[in-house]
Amino acid sequence: MSSATSPYDALLAEAAGRPFAAIVGWPVDHSRSPALHGFWLKQHGIDGHYGRLPVEPTRPALEQLAAFLRRTPNARGCNLTLPHKIDILPLLDRIDPAAARIGAVNTVVKRSDGTLDGYNSDGVGFLAALADGAPGWKIADGPAVVLGAGGAARAVVASLIEAGVPELRLLNRTQASAVALGVAFTPQDGRQIAIERWDDRDRVLEGANLLVNTTSLGMNGQPPLELELTKLPTTAAVDDIVYVPLETELLAAARARGNRCIDGLGMLLHQGRIGFEAWFGKKVAVSAALRHAVAADLGA
Ligand SMILES: NC(=O)c1ccc[n+]([C@@H]2O[C@H](COP(=O)([O-])OP(=O)(O)OC[C@H]3O[C@@H](n4cnc5c(N)ncnc54)[C@H](OP(=O)(O)O)[C@@H]3O)[C@@H](O)[C@H]2O)c1
Repeated sequence: MSSATSPYDALLAEAAGRPFAAIVGWPVDHSRSPALHGFWLKQHGIDGHYGRLPVEPTRPALEQLAAFLRRTPNARGCNLTLPHKIDILPLLDRIDPAAARIGAVNTVVKRSDGTLDGYNSDGVGFLAALADGAPGWKIADGPAVVLGAGGAARAVVASLIEAGVPELRLLNRTQASAVALGVAFTPQDGRQIAIERWDDRDRVLEGANLLVNTTSLGMNGQPPLELELTKLPTTAAVDDIVYVPLETELLAAARARGNRCIDGLGMLLHQGRIGFEAWFGKKVAVSAALRHAVAADLGA
């Protein structure tokens, strides 16, 4: 007689009584988060574990996850990836205001009383990667152009508005999604989110100080991002949050004409810090060695 081991039992067996967290998704095999958190655990000599937990996209499965986190003494929390970032919200005890604004949670932290807090670290990760990748460059110096209006775009737009971007031009293939995002994130202080047509994407680069690609275009297995950079000032920073490959065609073209370029790995690494520090009680940094280790895990 054989009984299949549940993913929860498998995770508990791997953790072997140590404090642990995990990436939760469906599917979850592709996630690089175990390489990221594994690096920090080893670097700081912490006797903890970070694993993978496949959880089906149904309400009962998410309720089971929340109950597991609450009742398991060594469970410290989890990260969430597609498709759970929104559906987890009603199952948590508190939602951080930034995550509530973005409307999605990617980090769950269990408090000592067993309650669960939800955070979104994508925006923080995006801004930290920008600061790292373009030292001296300032968000406040001019308009930003954001391509895409999906899940990642919500965090990017919210954080750019929060960080004081003076004007934001937003474009998406499905314009209605860009309009909805513009309505949700236009601040009350007179700054504008201008919704532009996807077909005008070459033209709206004129005078921009930042270009961000948050679409999946240019990612391995996806169509290329067709964009003519001629009108983009060479002083602008170009940030492609796609991280497979690391050097997308957009970044290669921007780099060749002298723009400062930021790849998607920095955002991925920086977003992990909030969870790690809360779960394992140690401040961590994004170093060249960490970049190297996670890039190797990506096969980049
Ligand atoms: N670096 C990081 O830490 C990080 C974090 C999160 C995400 N990402 C990356 O960001 C990308 C987007 O992720 P997401 O979660 O936001 O995905 P998502 O919610 O599915 O959004 C996908 C976006 O891409 C657009 N798109 C897809 N195919 C298109 C096409 N053929 N032509 C034009 N636009 C197209 C979609 O436009 P429509 O609305 O018209 O479909 C939408 O704006 C992925 O490559 C992901 O790996 C990176």
